Amino acid sequence: MPTRAELLDLLRWHVDAGVDEAVGDAPTDHFKAEPDPAAARRESAADRTRAPSDPSSSASPKRGANVPLSLESPAAAKGSADLLANEASTLAELRDAMGRFEGCSLKHTAMNLVFGDGNPDADVMFIGEAPGADEDREGLPFVGVSGRLLDRMIAAIGLDRTSAYITNILPWRPPGNRKPTTNEVTVCLPFIRRHIALVAPRVLVLVGGTSTSALLDRPEGITRLRGRWLIYRDDDSGGEFEIPCMPIYHPAYLLRQAALKRDAWRDLLAIQERLRSME
Ligand code: URA
Repeated sequence: MPTRAELLDLLRWHVDAGVDEAVGDAPTDHFKAEPDPAAARRESAADRTRAPSDPSSSASPKRGANVPLSLESPAAAKGSADLLANEASTLAELRDAMGRFEGCSLKHTAMNLVFGDGNPDADVMFIGEAPGADEDREGLPFVGVSGRLLDRMIAAIGLDRTSAYITNILPWRPPGNRKPTTNEVTVCLPFIRRHIALVAPRVLVLVGGTSTSALLDRPEGITRLRGRWLIYRDDDSGGEFEIPCMPIYHPAYLLRQAALKRDAWRDLLAIQERLRSME
């Protein structure tokens, strides 16, 4: 039996290694109502009466049980994302298609599909990386600490969620808020491309390095690309079009690097000027 001091050492080791949350191998939805014990007793009595060969005797997966991971290859998963995304002709259909997609295992560890928020008729669309814990819980993008900073940033140039649209590259939270893998981003890319095509904003703002590298074919990182007007091109999502876009620092990065807020402010003013010039 480890001593209290040993357990504290172990905990400190995990914290130093960056662990800030305990996650299991499978999701546990602590927000779900507790199972009704009487219903559980009825179910187990029914289970005992079924023959082992009765297909209905295979109980549905219990919460916390191992969930199936996608067995599709990344190329096949990307192919089915392409098909589902391109069939969607409205945002509601796209959301529904994403809900049916089985090619990204993040879906099984997330609580909610985080689709988008704000005004889909807005001139400007902001695209972040992926939901965090707060977004996963609420089912809305950018509602946690960095979301509050993003709200303040856009408010500084006269925008809010009635005059801007906000979404992410990935609709599901990576466990423990880790960075999404290249494979997760690639497989889900058809959905965000279709999302952009359906919203059809006049200006795109790429919030952070992940959305910048996912949507622009550029070798440079966010430090080089932020504040520059670039072109987002779409030629495979139901028609060919181009949208002017600007990468900006992610608010989570600005929270750690306050000195960069000056640059972020300059970028926001450039976005405001561009939107005004389009009025
Ligand atoms: N960070 C993101 O990139 N998106 C969110 O929705 C929240 C945090």
